[in-house]
Amino acid sequence: MNAPDTASVPAVATADSHALNVIILAAGQGKRMNSRLPKVLQPIAGRPMLGHVLDAARTLGAARIIVVHGHGGDQVQAAFSRETDIVWAHQAEQLGTGHAVAQALPFCTEGMALVLYGDCPLITAPTLQQLVASTQGSTLSVLTAHLDTPTGYGRIVRDGAGKVLRIVEQKDASPEEASIREINTGFVAAPVEKLGDWLPQLRNANAQGEYYLTDVIAMTVADGLEVATRSCDHWEAAGVNDKRQLAELERVYQRRAADQLLARGVTLLDPSRFDLRGTLQCGKDVEIDVNVIFEGDVVLADGVRIGANCVIRNAVIGEGVIIKSHTVIEDSIIGKGSDVGPFARLRPDTVLGEKVHIGNFVETKKARLGNGTKAGHLAYLGDAVIGERVNVSAGVITCNYDGANKFVTTIGDDAFIGTDSQLVAPVIIETGAYIAAGSTITKTAPADALTICRAREQKSISGWKKPVKQPKA
Ligand code: UD1
Ligand code: CA
Repeated sequence: MNAPDTASVPAVATADSHALNVIILAAGQGKRMNSRLPKVLQPIAGRPMLGHVLDAARTLGAARIIVVHGHGGDQVQAAFSRETDIVWAHQAEQLGTGHAVAQALPFCTEGMALVLYGDCPLITAPTLQQLVASTQGSTLSVLTAHLDTPTGYGRIVRDGAGKVLRIVEQKDASPEEASIREINTGFVAAPVEKLGDWLPQLRNANAQGEYYLTDVIAMTVADGLEVATRSCDHWEAAGVNDKRQLAELERVYQRRAADQLLARGVTLLDPSRFDLRGTLQCGKDVEIDVNVIFEGDVVLADGVRIGANCVIRNAVIGEGVIIKSHTVIEDSIIGKGSDVGPFARLRPDTVLGEKVHIGNFVETKKARLGNGTKAGHLAYLGDAVIGERVNVSAGVITCNYDGANKFVTTIGDDAFIGTDSQLVAPVIIETGAYIAAGSTITKTAPADALTICRAREQKSISGWKKPVKQPKA
């Protein structure tokens, strides 16, 4: 195979010989996903699989993190453009895992290399830390797992004394070798310098016509050097090749997240109906009902209770808040003792003070509601600055948009906005103002006065004929 530029890799190890280079292989196509999205961008818990592997790698204090990209490479690079610690190595043709590692080698500093796969998203930081630690002193170490159905994986072949001899791929295995249940996770740690010697010697005379990274194990043994192994939980080794496996790992991920919350004292009414796509910090005595989805970064203070079927994204929810079922919250802050829902929608830049009440079918956007303010039913409060102890009755609308621009509605403390009123922004309702039901307010409503703006008279017409249903022709 094409030899990488090993001239840049010094032959003699220096004081830096323990520096770690993480190489993540992410060039494969993933045909079986049947998707336009490259495989490593398929999400687990809302984050691309490659992102999860990067997160685990970042705990290792590596000198370099090199991602080998190829299929859909531009898309992959674009998805991680904000993660500037990544060194990208391009593999134009996917000629096998050994060839992929060779493309990363010129970017490595001297020291160790740890090879990871971008499509194994459940690998954990502690397992990688142990694998790296176990490599000190031995030449090469491989992370293995024991599977009841090892189909598809490379098998670890050992001698009678248990010493590793080589790895054989499923497609190249004899029936006897295929019955081995110890598999290669693909995660390997070895000195960069040794990889520089071994990789150019790989040949592709095998069932798949590929340059297998796994063949360096036999080379290590042939050089009279030791191969160490460590084993991990089988889910950590699980690779994703199709949507069924993606869905399966999603549930494993979610169960892990749920278990961590349970261990910290959070009550989950059904841990199997819980979804976290981001981070969730919980205080004491938090209770979460079924089918709640958390996205982005969410903080729940002590005693928060979340009803069933809510979606909560990027929110800070204060002590004792009750969120009732079917509520959707995005980029919002909710003060202590408030209650929201059922069926409420808090859109971005909603800030609720303490003991605010938001009832069913109330929508807020860029709205600030002071302490003790209530909007119990059917209201739209957008671009609004609302004081304390305000009563917003049913059917109140802030008319914030003229078709081109948005305007602010300002409501002072202790105001009362009667049912079915429209507040046409920009407009000010002063402190203690009282707006009569059914008013359309276009000018400042003065403090402490009753402002009423309706059709002038209410008429009743006697002898009026009720419409009658027409008989069908
Ligand atoms: C590989 C291992 C197998 C192991 C299994 C674990 C080899 C030869 N086989 O097999 O022993 O049990 O993983 O999941 O190493 N990739 C590239 N460039 C390439 C080829 C692959 O970047 O040219 C990347 C893929 O994107 C993927 C990873 O390497 O992230 C593994 O490749 P894949 O083709 O899935 O290897 P397997 O056949 O599963
Ligand atoms: Ca695979």
